Amino acid sequence: MIHKFENSKIWQHWPKHHSELRDGIYRGKLFKKQKTSASQKAVSDTLNLLEAELGTTDVRLAHSHMSADEFFESIGRIRKQLFMDERHRQNVHDVILEMGFDPEEIAYEPFRLRVIQHLGHENPRAAAVYYPHRDTWYAHPQCLMVGWLPLHDLEEHETFEVYPDWWDLSVPNNSEIFDYSQWVLDGWQLKIGWQHKMSGVKANYPQATSKVEVGSRVGFKCDAASNIIFPGGHFHKTLEQATGKTRFSLDFRMVHLGDLAENLGAPNVDTRCKGNAVVDYLHPPHCSGISNE
Ligand SMILES: [Fe+2]
Repeated sequence: MIHKFENSKIWQHWPKHHSELRDGIYRGKLFKKQKTSASQKAVSDTLNLLEAELGTTDVRLAHSHMSADEFFESIGRIRKQLFMDERHRQNVHDVILEMGFDPEEIAYEPFRLRVIQHLGHENPRAAAVYYPHRDTWYAHPQCLMVGWLPLHDLEEHETFEVYPDWWDLSVPNNSEIFDYSQWVLDGWQLKIGWQHKMSGVKANYPQATSKVEVGSRVGFKCDAASNIIFPGGHFHKTLEQATGKTRFSLDFRMVHLGDLAENLGAPNVDTRCKGNAVVDYLHPPHCSGISNE
């Protein structure tokens, strides 16, 4: 028997205070607001990187005049810059601030560039991109908040969908295969995806172990540089694309350190992975070097 989520109320207005925002996220709500100056700058800096590396201003069609290997290698170089360069890390900080949080209370990961290609789901190397999953199956805590910024205006079929009926129901899954310390043994290349073309085939990505009747589907459309936050505990899935165009977005994981210490967040109904990804998040200066294990 599937527990019925308050589906019509899942998207909420962005509250004035971040304590309400966090509380809503921990109860399974999703939030979206229009672009801010920080999200606009983050998107524009990323588009500049893409345009320079892909050699075109029409980055959504760049794949059509490059070989698959050239495209993969270019994207890898961009991912590395987004993840490592101070300028882009500052952009994440500024986006978090304009989302209404106090960055002094938040640990976060740098931006990850998501690249969803036309018919990408037909590529066995990209199979894991389309697994329905919870982000918490990857050793993130139950209070995980995921920030998501589209680089373009996107229709509902171009984004992702959340399956709220499974918020507090156990999905049959193999998250026990995921061990964070093993995941990072190979270095950051595998984690962020700027090398290892075969990683999608070889790595152990947690997934549902039997066919799941997803129930209610909650999707969304959005304008470029909109600010979106969803709980990392939601069961969700990236949608397959057959539009002829690549979909680019940025996402970043964040946790409120006080809430983490208090064990707040989504109910843990089926997460059995090992380790703690938060140790490698960027921590505010007053608690740098903190290990939460
Ligand atoms: Fe995800």
